[in-house]
Amino acid sequence: MNLSKKRIISGINPSGNSLHIGNFFGAVKPQIELQDNETYETYYFVADLHALTTIQNKQQLESNIRGVVLDYLSLGLDPDKCIFFRQSQVIAHSQLAVVLGNYIGLGQMKRMHAFKDKLQKGTEVDSINMGLFNYPILMAADILLYQPYGVPVGEDQRQHVELARDVAENFNRTYKLNFFALPAALISKDLGKVVGTDGQRKMSKSLGNVIGIFEDEAVIHKQIMGCFTDPNRRKATDPGKVEGNPVFVYHDLLNQNKAEVAELKNRYRSGQVGDVEVKEKLFLAHQQFFSQARARRRELENNNQLVETILAEGAKKAGLQAGQTLEKVYQIIGL
Ligand code: TRP
Repeated sequence: MNLSKKRIISGINPSGNSLHIGNFFGAVKPQIELQDNETYETYYFVADLHALTTIQNKQQLESNIRGVVLDYLSLGLDPDKCIFFRQSQVIAHSQLAVVLGNYIGLGQMKRMHAFKDKLQKGTEVDSINMGLFNYPILMAADILLYQPYGVPVGEDQRQHVELARDVAENFNRTYKLNFFALPAALISKDLGKVVGTDGQRKMSKSLGNVIGIFEDEAVIHKQIMGCFTDPNRRKATDPGKVEGNPVFVYHDLLNQNKAEVAELKNRYRSGQVGDVEVKEKLFLAHQQFFSQARARRRELENNNQLVETILAEGAKKAGLQAGQTLEKVYQIIGL
């Protein structure tokens, strides 16, 4: 591995089976930018073992994993530039997690947000799934195996990265060694902040306020046409508000014809354009923006062999690195 590069690791939880534009601009695009940046060496993996906390249906799990793998590869994740693999295919993740559980106390685990949220939503403490409770330990293993410089995640994952640092510190202190470097959470402030089509909440599949990427054109068209705009504007001749208006937020993200966007905004402000025209143009911009990715996805869908090979090679490379770390840990602890 290249020692002069800063190593980055991040996991993608396959909790859904298709990405939407909020996922793309919030997570995928920044991840791809890191991959393309020569300063970094990037490891990205599908956290399929973590998905078991929410998905215990074989077909659904398989379909989610496949969906997220195809989506990422289609959107520009490049196995020649980054190491892309499935967590379950690198066995050291599970093995290190078993070890690391010994360097963290119950008290700290009980303060983790995901656990506390469950309790708050009324789940009895005794019926909390142990996979959920131990989730942060597996995630600490995911991170520490690669001794990364940083972990790019959303704000909601900050506490998990901090736990990984605490585990690392406790381990180091126990053996009076400076073995694990402490990873930093790399949190970009606008990560995951694309407004949904309801114009109010963050875009999220469970809220049904998304615009997809790979769905049939008719589905995307419907999502766009149903999008919330300026609630105070009744007719096309009323002056409208552009700031915070989701159709213009999406135009800014997707429409590469900046002159057209500026012109639409002007006409909107002065009441000279209807919502339908703004949305139809948004639909066309969406088609254009994702046309390459959509074509690539259709290719990959028909080439299972290639996808399997990419994942197998990724797992091999990641396994080499992870295996080395695990072996050193075993030596340090006396196994
Ligand atoms: N918990 C992360 C999420 O839900 C996914 C994840 C698993 C992860 N392991 C990781 C992220 C290691 C960064 C590093 O988004």
